[in-house]
Amino acid sequence: MSEGVQPFDSRELRQVLGAFVTGVTVITALDKDGTPHGLTANSFTSVSLDPPLILWSQSLTAPSHPVFREAERFVVNILADDQVEVSKRFARGGGDKFADCQTTPGLGGVPLIVGCAAYLECRRMDSFPGGDHVVFLGRVERTERTGRQPLVFGGGRYLIAQPHDIGPPPAESGANIARLTAVRLATRALVDLSDELDETLGLGVWGNMGPTMVRWEDSSQPISEHLRTGLVLPVLASATGLAFAAWLPRETTAPFIDVELAQGAAAEFFSDAGRLYERLAQIRGEGIVRLASTDAFASVYGTTISALSVPVFDQTGGMVLALTAIGTVDRLDVADSGRLVTRLRECAATLSRRLGAASPVAPTAPNPDQENGP
Ligand SMILES: Cc1cc2nc3c(=O)[nH]c(=O)nc-3n(C[C@H](O)[C@H](O)[C@H](O)COP(=O)(O)O)c2cc1C
Repeated sequence: MSEGVQPFDSRELRQVLGAFVTGVTVITALDKDGTPHGLTANSFTSVSLDPPLILWSQSLTAPSHPVFREAERFVVNILADDQVEVSKRFARGGGDKFADCQTTPGLGGVPLIVGCAAYLECRRMDSFPGGDHVVFLGRVERTERTGRQPLVFGGGRYLIAQPHDIGPPPAESGANIARLTAVRLATRALVDLSDELDETLGLGVWGNMGPTMVRWEDSSQPISEHLRTGLVLPVLASATGLAFAAWLPRETTAPFIDVELAQGAAAEFFSDAGRLYERLAQIRGEGIVRLASTDAFASVYGTTISALSVPVFDQTGGMVLALTAIGTVDRLDVADSGRLVTRLRECAATLSRRLGAASPVAPTAPNPDQENGP
C-alpha cells in the first residue's frame, strides 16, 4: 500500500458510493448463438454528446461477462419505476431471465425490454480494465424515450423520483429547503426511522376533519389493519390529536375539542376543560405526548395500545406535522430515556430545522395562545 493511502473497509466504501443515487438499467446482448443475456447495472453513465458515447462497467466475475466482452452490440434498457421486479430478476445469476419477459428485437436483434423509461442501442467501441470490473464504452446508434418515470436506486434500496419543489428562498428564513413540502420530507424520514427502530410510525396533519393520518410505516409486527391513510383521529383520545391540541392555535382546535368534551369522548382523561388545558400545558412542557397503556383507542386500533407523538414545526413556527409511534403495551417503550423517545425527538427536531423552524425547537416554549388555558 502506498504512503498516505488508507485501507478501505469495502462495506463502508459501498455505503459511501450508495449516497450517489442512480437510475437502474438492464444491459442486454446476444451471444454467438443468438441467445439473449442481460444483467441489472447501475454503473451506466453518459460520456460524450458528440460523438454520442456512454459507458457502463461489469464485474469480471459475472457469469455473463464473456458474452458482453465478445458482443458487438448491447442495449441499455433504462428501467421504469414499476420495474423493480425486472431489476431483481436480471440481478439474479443463472436461470432463463428472459422467460415471461416481454421483449422486442432492436438493432442486430438485441432485445429491448418492454415497459422501460428509455433505451439506448449501442455498438461496443472499446473496453478498459477497471480493477475487478471492465469498463465498456458504447457508441449510441438509436434511442427511444417512452415517457415513463425512471426507477431510482440509492442507499441500497429502490426509490421513486419526485420533483424537488424548492422555490426561491423565503426572504426572512434564508433556508432554501423551507418550501419543500413537510410531508414529502417527513415521509422519507419516517421510512428510515421505522426501519431503524422496527416500530410502527405514523405521520399526522391537521385536516379539515381534524387530526388526519397521511402515512403509516409498519413495524415487522403490524399492530392493526385499521392504520390506513386518511384515518381521522379524535383530538382528545389520540396522541396525534393531543399533539395538535397542544401546539396549534386554540381557535383551530377548539371547535373539535368542544364537541368531544360535550360528548364525553375523552372522559378517561378529561372530566372538564380545565383539566384538559392543564394537560396540554404539561405536554408542551415535556415536548411530547405520551399515552401509556390505554383502552381509549380500542375502537380505532382494535387493541390496547401505547402511543407517543412529537410535533414538527415549519419556518413560521407553526406545527405542521405530528410524528407518532404506536405499539402494543408490552412492546412500545415510552420511557423518556428510551431509544424510541430519543430518536423521535431527534427526528422531529431535524425535520423542523430542515423546514426552516427556528432551532432548536424548545420543548418548553409556551404557546402564547394557550398559556393561560381556556
Ligand atoms: C441495482 C443494481 C445494480 C447493479 N449494477 C451492476 C453493475 O453496474 N455492474 C455489474 O457487473 N453488476 C451489477 N449488479 C449485479 C448484477 O446485476 C448481478 O451480478 C447479475 O447476477 C449479473 O448477471 P449474470 O449473473 O447473468 O452475469 C447490480 C445489481 C443491482 C441490484
